[in-house]
Amino acid sequence: IPVASFDCVVFGATGDLTTRKLLPALFYRFQDEQIPETSRIIGASRTEISAEEFRERARDAIKRFVPPQDIREGALDGFIAHLDYVHVDGAGEEGWSALAALLAERPDQVRPYYLATSPDLYGPICRNLAKHGLIGEKSRVVLEKPIGKDLTSARAINDAVGEVFPEHQIFRIDHYLGKETVQNLLALRFANTIFERLWTADVIDHVQITVAETVGVEGRAGYYDRSGALRDMLQNHLLQLLCLTAMESPLNLDANAVRDEKLKVLRALKPITANDVHQVTVRGQYGAGAVNGQPVEGYLKELDGPSRTETFVAMKVEVQSWRWAGVPFYLRTGKRMPQKLSEIVVQFRASPFSIFPEESFGREPNRLVIRLQPQEGMKLEVMTKDPGPGGMRLRPTNLDISFEETFKQRYPDAYERLLMDVVRGNATLFMRRDEVEAAWAWADGVLKAWADRPETPRPYPAGTWGPTAAIALIERDGRTWHEELR
Ligand code: BG6
Repeated sequence: IPVASFDCVVFGATGDLTTRKLLPALFYRFQDEQIPETSRIIGASRTEISAEEFRERARDAIKRFVPPQDIREGALDGFIAHLDYVHVDGAGEEGWSALAALLAERPDQVRPYYLATSPDLYGPICRNLAKHGLIGEKSRVVLEKPIGKDLTSARAINDAVGEVFPEHQIFRIDHYLGKETVQNLLALRFANTIFERLWTADVIDHVQITVAETVGVEGRAGYYDRSGALRDMLQNHLLQLLCLTAMESPLNLDANAVRDEKLKVLRALKPITANDVHQVTVRGQYGAGAVNGQPVEGYLKELDGPSRTETFVAMKVEVQSWRWAGVPFYLRTGKRMPQKLSEIVVQFRASPFSIFPEESFGREPNRLVIRLQPQEGMKLEVMTKDPGPGGMRLRPTNLDISFEETFKQRYPDAYERLLMDVVRGNATLFMRRDEVEAAWAWADGVLKAWADRPETPRPYPAGTWGPTAAIALIERDGRTWHEELR
């Protein structure tokens, strides 16, 4: 779908997110001819640089974060010509009239304001936008996570932004929703008859959601140490994956229809309390070790100080609903794991009875693995007969779809899709206020339980799958984590 001409103002234009993600994403969309000729990308930040300097920085960012073979001849110059810059103090007075003058040149453009800044500035920037008359029908505001650090701060941010923007103009990003395979979950569940009928506690034994990263805290220790894995990853990305896996069929793909269903899942999450917190959650922190054969420092060394922040969390979660009663969802996420891997594993129950002799090795239950990264795809493990002599010997085989091989095209980055959805005004893949707050309400319970029964995080060497207690968490229930190494 073609997009309307737009002026996208990016606050925090010299920051990490803009450099690593937003500019490359917009560049790819430019190459795909989705940035109309008259559109502008206007950087805004407190850094005192000229528009020319901003364009040069953007050029460097693209050369750094887009592989050279993806950059078509002349495309970089063409893209850079869409960029402009204004020096603006988000929370102060400076620069706003210059921004207003620039925007007034093209009053009819769709106008996304992308707040790639610290969340403390969301309220002040929005108030300034209103004060300078910069909000109209075609304006949208995009909020990056984290939206707060608990329910109270999330509400304060939502109130401040909500004072000047109506909800349908607010786009809260969870970039996991922009990942192709995450959207494929909707296709898998609701465009095929075979899965949805099996998607119940009668047939499914349990679900695992793993988001493992090889990176450490990457120079973000200041932010990360105040946050930890629960706030940084689980409260948002993993819960969103859980919602899409567990939700009922929405009435249609409209933003509110999808979000209504996700919200019900969040509200059905069983609270974790001080009584059971140590049975159903494990916090870990990496020590020195090796990732991909490279020695790496431990978290405390990177931080250069003491800390009880978790860089890994595993938990057993229950969705209290008719469909999911008794089906545990095991979630885990961590930094400095052996590989970058995000996947959802749906483990079906074992067949109730086997007609095959015991020596045929065979009663592996079916398993559906939805791989978000790397190598996006899906795999259904089914039992088959081993060919050749030896009688009826069974073994599990995969019905395997690798998306990249099947579609033979580049997989767009999540931000590409999400940015264009903002311009189109399609909020289906963005979080509504009540969703963010429901996720925090539940996460706050976990944080409180941890605070009531404090424990130092369990150490794990960098390059492993987390503390042994995380393995025990699932093995106590007679199950194992799905781990498939390269
Ligand atoms: C971000 C977290 O939201 O997601 C980071 O703040 C994390 O700590 C990142 O590294 C992971 O995203 P992706 O797309 O690389 O899996």
